Amino acid sequence: MCGIVGYIGQKQSLPILLEGLKRLEYRGYDSAGLAVLNEGKIHILKQVGKIASLEAELTGSHMPGVVGIAHTRWATHGEPNQTNAHPHCDCTGNIALVHNGIIENYNSLKKVLTDKGHTFRTETDTESIVHLIEEFYHNGTSFEEAFRSALLEIEGTYGITLISRYEPDRIYCARKGSPLVVGIGKNEYFVASDASAIIAHTRNVFYLEDGEIAIVSREGFITKTIHNKPVTKKVEKISFDLERIEKAGFPHFMLKEIYEQPQTVADAMRGRLIEEEGVSKLGGLTTILHNVLRSRKIFITACGTSYHAGLVGEYMIEQYCRIPVEVEYASEFRYRDPIIQDDNLVIVITQSGETADTLAALREAKRKGATVMGIVNVVGSTIARETHGGTYIHAGPEIGVASTKAFTSQVTALALLTLMIARTKAMSAEEGRQIVKEMKKLPEKVEVALQTDKLVAQIAREFKDKRNFLYLGRGYNYPVALEGALKLKEISYIHAEGYPAAEMKHGPIALIDDDMPVVVIAIHDSTYEKIVSNIEEVKARKGRVIAVVSEGDDKLNKLVDYTIPIPTTLDLLQPIISIIPLQLLAYHIAVLRGCDVDQPRNLAKSVTVE
Ligand code: AGP
Repeated sequence: MCGIVGYIGQKQSLPILLEGLKRLEYRGYDSAGLAVLNEGKIHILKQVGKIASLEAELTGSHMPGVVGIAHTRWATHGEPNQTNAHPHCDCTGNIALVHNGIIENYNSLKKVLTDKGHTFRTETDTESIVHLIEEFYHNGTSFEEAFRSALLEIEGTYGITLISRYEPDRIYCARKGSPLVVGIGKNEYFVASDASAIIAHTRNVFYLEDGEIAIVSREGFITKTIHNKPVTKKVEKISFDLERIEKAGFPHFMLKEIYEQPQTVADAMRGRLIEEEGVSKLGGLTTILHNVLRSRKIFITACGTSYHAGLVGEYMIEQYCRIPVEVEYASEFRYRDPIIQDDNLVIVITQSGETADTLAALREAKRKGATVMGIVNVVGSTIARETHGGTYIHAGPEIGVASTKAFTSQVTALALLTLMIARTKAMSAEEGRQIVKEMKKLPEKVEVALQTDKLVAQIAREFKDKRNFLYLGRGYNYPVALEGALKLKEISYIHAEGYPAAEMKHGPIALIDDDMPVVVIAIHDSTYEKIVSNIEEVKARKGRVIAVVSEGDDKLNKLVDYTIPIPTTLDLLQPIISIIPLQLLAYHIAVLRGCDVDQPRNLAKSVTVE
């Protein structure tokens, strides 16, 4: 949601804070700010808009100081403006604080504190925290006690980092629900919402858990619970390198990540396929393998693109493992009191590993006795740490807000899981070997699908000014239609809907006219003849049809307006290839419409509040 950075050391903090903010800008980018402590004074600068406008404000002036905090915002409470931008201060200006999350009881706190004489300057929920700390501190407790006492009063989620004139050589951090990582350097420490903001300075980090605080100084750090119990932290090494979070010459992270997919699909399978036995092995499931294999029912729960990957997983597992699967939006699953038995498996799918609704769904499933496994991208993320076991998809950092490579790697991981379970049930070694063989061909087939880029860019020029799009697919390609529509919606702001192709006759066909582009995934699979007649229904109403077809399929050339030929594979793996031209179509239309492809309006990469 928001991005937090902090630094305490020997170096000037400003450049470190600004560079860190730029790396976290994909988390939220409607306003930003920073506070630097120098000679016992806290200097603050806040600006509406992107980090660039904050930097512009700094031109010609510099904020000296070797201790500082910074924040890039995705507004939840209080509109994006300079006043509501973080950091927020107490009445005296002696404490400056940045926060990621939502304080649910801020209104009642604000009332109590206002009655006690505090002056609130912003519309934010966050400001209640800093006044609460001020209140406890002025009631005579130590600053640390004031910090912990305030945290005990707060309801909601937070990742908090603060500096104060009372303890100028310390940075205070706390976590409940929103991620915080602390980076360890030589006589310097870094704090951030995720490791990408500090990897340029250190690879040694530890992650705060819910209910923990860290007090960091140049000499070291203290970690304990908000109830004052000491906590020993395991220092881990960040696995990815700086290069992976640069644009590598592409105009946008999204396009770079689309082109990374031959590599990332291969990475998702690396060391997990045993061709001669026709099986897959997922080391991260070792501790829960028995429960996974004996599960009598499987729930898959996630949000957004990850939910669409889950829908593909449903088709796979039911077809090959004959285990009933229910796919649920995490935001519904967590509140609808699902019927879960202890021989049920709940799979949570998430790129960031921090999505609040998915985290809550995980905790609900665990509470109800299910075995919970994760399919996660971000190593060391909260959801990865809280599942009973899981599979990392190894897609590397995904910076573009519109998820692309994570989707194809999530579907690859689901295929590996399906193969692993199915080979312990009715699937023969021969059938298993065939799937392994086809999986190993995926990277090169994705490479070929990427070569439709120029054709897709041309098609995009034709349809960039359309106000509505329909996406149609059948079977395994129905979730691909949903995902294609989501990509277009989120980065080009064009209204688009994905539908099972046969469902059209039950309503959406009323939308069809010569101004309605209809994207159809019409691959030569078991539903081909059916999808052709759906296309004829659209053409009969003068709809403009863009069809994703199998290489060499000349039949549809005569029927539709545009064909985009792609390689084919087994039905269960086809979504990994079919989605490529749809990602490119959304990308090119958004670029042609001048949209901010990597940081589309109103969105954030990781939704850490519900
Ligand atoms: C997809 O492009 C969006 N960024 C969004 O729908 C995303 O998939 C959703 O927020 C889930 O995120 P997660 O995979 O990190 O949990």
